[in-house]
Amino acid sequence: MEVPSHNLALDLVRVTEAAALAAARWLGRGDKNGGDQAAVDAMRLSFNSIDFEGEIVIGEGEKDEAPMLYNGEKVGTGNGPKMDVAVDPVEGTNLLAYGRPNAIAVIGVAPAGSMLDPGPSFYMRKLVVPAQAKTVVDIDAPVADNLRKVAKALNKDVDDLVVFVLDKPRHRELIAEIRKAGARIQLHTDGDVNGSLMAVDPTSEVDMMMGTGGTPEAVLSACAIRIMGGEFFAKFDPQLDNEKKALAEAGQDLSRIYTAADLVRSDDVFFAATGLSGGTFMPAVRFSGRGATTHSLVMRGKTGTVRRIIAEHSWDHLMQFSAVKYD
Ligand code: FBP
Repeated sequence: MEVPSHNLALDLVRVTEAAALAAARWLGRGDKNGGDQAAVDAMRLSFNSIDFEGEIVIGEGEKDEAPMLYNGEKVGTGNGPKMDVAVDPVEGTNLLAYGRPNAIAVIGVAPAGSMLDPGPSFYMRKLVVPAQAKTVVDIDAPVADNLRKVAKALNKDVDDLVVFVLDKPRHRELIAEIRKAGARIQLHTDGDVNGSLMAVDPTSEVDMMMGTGGTPEAVLSACAIRIMGGEFFAKFDPQLDNEKKALAEAGQDLSRIYTAADLVRSDDVFFAATGLSGGTFMPAVRFSGRGATTHSLVMRGKTGTVRRIIAEHSWDHLMQFSAVKYD
């Protein structure tokens, strides 16, 4: 038996809170890089108080030429365990820029060497289902078959199901097939990490997620799903010509199906996310004039603990010393 060890996720939530507090000022301003930059700066600064030797292996920005916490960047004090770090300071930069729900600040951390290196891959096709359905679905099966199997596993009818799908032209056929099968759909312009979390959370109104989204978002989602349960299936699904070419040159097998355990090869994983723009799953940052309230999800794989943390931030105290100006 072991004495309880340090739960890094409780440190990481301070980093996602900082990113969310800083970026929430950019809600609806129509400037996606402004919000992302504010979150990146706050995150970078907050990381450096944490005792660990982190290396960003899943950064974001390259695809969108956004201000990034770049791959290979070291975070943390350098004292403590060596860890891989996946970050998305603003998951859903457009959601934030246009004031739409479901933008979050998110981090996943796992032992060094355990996270998938996405190489030149930007996009993966994803199928995310709750625990009851994880042994019955097949990402290569027809959409209607998977819907029928998930419905049966959840003791529902197909027309009871709600499927989270990104509203992208590439999903025209997928959306038509889901509608034809009779299931219902939540179409979101962005934010498939949120979609993945909702798909495995029994208290959310979403039953599953289908469709193609970012590879970094796949690894982040896998961190959470290793803890929350359910399953994440994904395959490389290059959308861009240079991505197709680079994956072929790297000899990547496009037929391989990855599960959450292939994307993050350790259950000693930590995850923290803070709601930014609101929505049913993670409420928004709310400013009160004297401070702000944040809602976060904080999880640890080893113990399986899932915490929801509501934090009250007080400018009177914080602004006396904080290097980030939140007020
Ligand atoms: P950002 O955090 O970069 O804004 O990504 C938002 C997002 O919608 C992800 O949730 C999703 O995985 C990806 O973009 C889809 O990419 P694209 O918008 O290029 O189809």
